[in-house]
Amino acid sequence: MSATSHRAQALSGTVRAPGDKSISHRSMILGAMAEGTTTVTGLLEGADILSTAVAMQDFGAQIERQKDGSWTIIGCGKAGFKSPEGDVDCGNAGTGVRLIMGAASGYALKATFTGDASLSSRPMGRVLDPLAEMGVTYEAQAGGRLPATLTSDGKLTPLDYTPPHASAQVKSAILLAGLNTDGVTVVNEPTLSRDHTENMLKAFGAEVTVKAQGAGQKVSVKGPVTLKATNVNVPGDPSSAAFPIVAALTTPGSDIVIENVMMNPTRTGLFETLTEMGAYLRSDNFRTSGGEVIADIHVKHSKLHGVTVPEGRAPSMIDEYPILAIAAAYASGTTIMRGIAEMRVKESDRISATVALLVGNGVETSEYDDGFAVKGGAVAGGGTVITHHDHRIAMSALILGMNSNQAVSIDDASMIATSFPTFFELMNGLGANIKTSKVAAA
Ligand code: S3P
Repeated sequence: MSATSHRAQALSGTVRAPGDKSISHRSMILGAMAEGTTTVTGLLEGADILSTAVAMQDFGAQIERQKDGSWTIIGCGKAGFKSPEGDVDCGNAGTGVRLIMGAASGYALKATFTGDASLSSRPMGRVLDPLAEMGVTYEAQAGGRLPATLTSDGKLTPLDYTPPHASAQVKSAILLAGLNTDGVTVVNEPTLSRDHTENMLKAFGAEVTVKAQGAGQKVSVKGPVTLKATNVNVPGDPSSAAFPIVAALTTPGSDIVIENVMMNPTRTGLFETLTEMGAYLRSDNFRTSGGEVIADIHVKHSKLHGVTVPEGRAPSMIDEYPILAIAAAYASGTTIMRGIAEMRVKESDRISATVALLVGNGVETSEYDDGFAVKGGAVAGGGTVITHHDHRIAMSALILGMNSNQAVSIDDASMIATSFPTFFELMNGLGANIKTSKVAAA
């Protein structure tokens, strides 16, 4: 399925952000490890999460969607995960496969992990190597890529680990493996990454301690422990809210409200950056839901200006640079985004994919090893963007097309369903003019 974004009307209305992808993955995985029945409300029913749910069934959890839209997970508890019968297909989901590898390591089993073309091109050694230090053995393709087979005797030793990159996925995999060791597993994070795993582990009854350490933190988990089922209410995803927010900021006359957005400071770097660029973003009705602060965000069309994004902010907005680049394309002056080499190993090489997206639509952009700079102004459009199986590149391109002189097309819109299955109806309901077609774009 391809899609084309034509000039939008002024956006108006109130919408609800879809469930957070990171918390949805974790609710499935922790629920599958726990003893008892976990109920999840507000789950993101995106393809990535459904892949994780099926994977958890492969390891022995019982998962069901209830008539009221909630999900129940009967966890494996003390019996632990079993070896899956076939390959564990994690689809497009990096968070899914990396966290599941960590969780599975603590049990006596053998599992082969596979994924789609995008996931199969991503490095897994960053998770498999520390897990091997804890005691698992693995076989993978060159560069630690999928398909990968992990074997564990379920007798891991605790690890004290300092990851070379700020990565919540690596931190989470090690902490999940640490649950089934006899001792304390420690992750020293040089820069704070999203903290959902440590928060949720506490809610599932694990003994987790977090201590500030320089600009980062030291997280410890004490094993062995069997998690206890609990209820999870998934807050709205700030990374998905980013798309209607930037659409409203860049479309003249727009005035919208996005409800239910998680405001966890490890996730809100984009909101801070857009505010520095001159955005009208007002968060109110702050409340707590599922252990996270959520708010409603009021957004109006704004005159944006370019900024230099502080490199230290990257972990709190690592998935948001493609959509920030779209805001930058409509801002006055230049926006410089560096210190983000990690973007090269996301669902696609997001530095080159974002640069190609912009250049192909007439936006002056410079590419660096560790980022890019975007010179804003009027946007010509008229390009067809290659999305490389990357949902965030696809959605960013369609937001660019809402205000460009000519429409912007994407070659493949199917991946949008991994994180934002309601994207088209939500955006068009606000005033976008995005058309999908079964025929591939030229
Ligand atoms: C995620 C962590 C981030 C992010 C990804 C979701 C998570 O990846 O890019 O979309 O849920 O832990 P890294 O941990 O590799 O930076």
